[in-house]
Amino acid sequence: MRIHVAEHPLIAHKLTALRDRNTDSPTFRRLSDELVTLLAYEATRDVRVSPLEVQTPVSPARGVRLAAPKPLVVPILRAGLGMLDGMVRLLPTAEVGFLGMVRDEGTLVASTYATRLPDDISDRQCYVLDPMLATGGTLIAAIRLLAARGARDVTAICLLAAPEGIAKLDQELAGHPIPVTVVTAAVDDHLNEHGYIVPGLGDAGDRLYGVV
Ligand code: URA
Repeated sequence: MRIHVAEHPLIAHKLTALRDRNTDSPTFRRLSDELVTLLAYEATRDVRVSPLEVQTPVSPARGVRLAAPKPLVVPILRAGLGMLDGMVRLLPTAEVGFLGMVRDEGTLVASTYATRLPDDISDRQCYVLDPMLATGGTLIAAIRLLAARGARDVTAICLLAAPEGIAKLDQELAGHPIPVTVVTAAVDDHLNEHGYIVPGLGDAGDRLYGVV
């Protein structure tokens, strides 16, 4: 498992505003959207392309285009939905699948309540959107599911990660058959006893959508 912490002043600026408890939901949604687009730029460094020649007004030019099969973007419901627009802005031709996962706030164990993926994801590059890599349980379950269906590789985009979640991913995915990369804006200090990232930004779903 590879972890990439995207260091950039604009990323740090937007993340700081997201952390601020006084940031309201509309601003939180706009900032996370912008932040995801910046993280997506880093996360798609290895997206597959194939050669393409075009004609400029002056001469032929060699370039590239996104290769088939199309990348698959998979937001994890609910909070990952707040990252979808920012991601597909950069990869408009990607297909989108959905995973509904919820963690039991007592045991912190993740369970899947909805799966909506294309029938065939074999050889696809998959981009999983999950804002908070906390205990790692949800992300591990999502990666295993995508790998079992034949994904070529999985890149997770997380706004924030906790050291405990990264260690768990490393341990659980050691020797895992497909490459896994996590791209995040920051690795925070620790998880508290309720499984929240400290200092973190609170409950990402609640801050995006209001407490439900
Ligand atoms: N999920 C969240 O929304 N926030 C955390 O800090 C941890 C998990």
